[in-house]
Amino acid sequence: MQKIVIAIDGYSGCGKSSTAKAVAKILGYTYIDSGAMYRAATLYFLKHQIDLSDKAAVNKALKHIQISFQTDKASGQQETYLNGENVEQQIRSMEVSDFVSEVSKIKEVRKELVSQQQQLGKAKGVVMDGRDIGTVVFPDAELKVFMTADLEIRAKRRQKELIEKGQEVTLEEIIRNLAERDKIDSTRAESPLVRAEDAVDVDTSYLDFDDQVKKIVELANERIGLYSKAY
Ligand code: C5P
Repeated sequence: MQKIVIAIDGYSGCGKSSTAKAVAKILGYTYIDSGAMYRAATLYFLKHQIDLSDKAAVNKALKHIQISFQTDKASGQQETYLNGENVEQQIRSMEVSDFVSEVSKIKEVRKELVSQQQQLGKAKGVVMDGRDIGTVVFPDAELKVFMTADLEIRAKRRQKELIEKGQEVTLEEIIRNLAERDKIDSTRAESPLVRAEDAVDVDTSYLDFDDQVKKIVELANERIGLYSKAY
């Protein structure tokens, strides 16, 4: 059976990661969280107090950033590693969330991470979620999905997730962060968040999680079938 690339893009907190993870599991594909890579780079910049306006310092820092993913044996969850250290918890903090869109605007950062993402997906059989996967990272992806959801619904879901992870954050704080990131991500000069022309729209505001996963798996199976016939 031929393998395809599934690109899932969309606004912050509309359930891209959990959906992509579930789709990958059903199809036996690899899930790649490109946002986690921008978050890990952001953590590095914060920890090392890199001045983002200093190009030379940014480029130097990028040479020292190695991001990888490993599945935790006990939970079965994929976790993010920065230079060998498990940073899964740290990259989900509000401090990183508040700074990540500033780091993601930088051309050199995008160039480096896009190249790593293309490398990770080159054998196909991947589900990658982010902001520019269907437009820049894999413009030839066989299936592109553009996910949206109402801002308040997204914020409530994110708050529930953070509370489950032991982080107390107010709804207002989350709404502010999501809206701010959407604005920066959609208006930046370098590969802004835009819907790929050939993407399928999925509004998750009132969709049951299982239904949204099912919908994408059906679309994927359709594309896998078409793709297998063509080759
Ligand atoms: O997906 P997540 O919300 O964790 O992404 C965090 C941030 O990383 C986004 O708000 C965006 O600034 C950046 N990002 C990006 N391009 C991607 C994935 C994430 O610019 N492909």
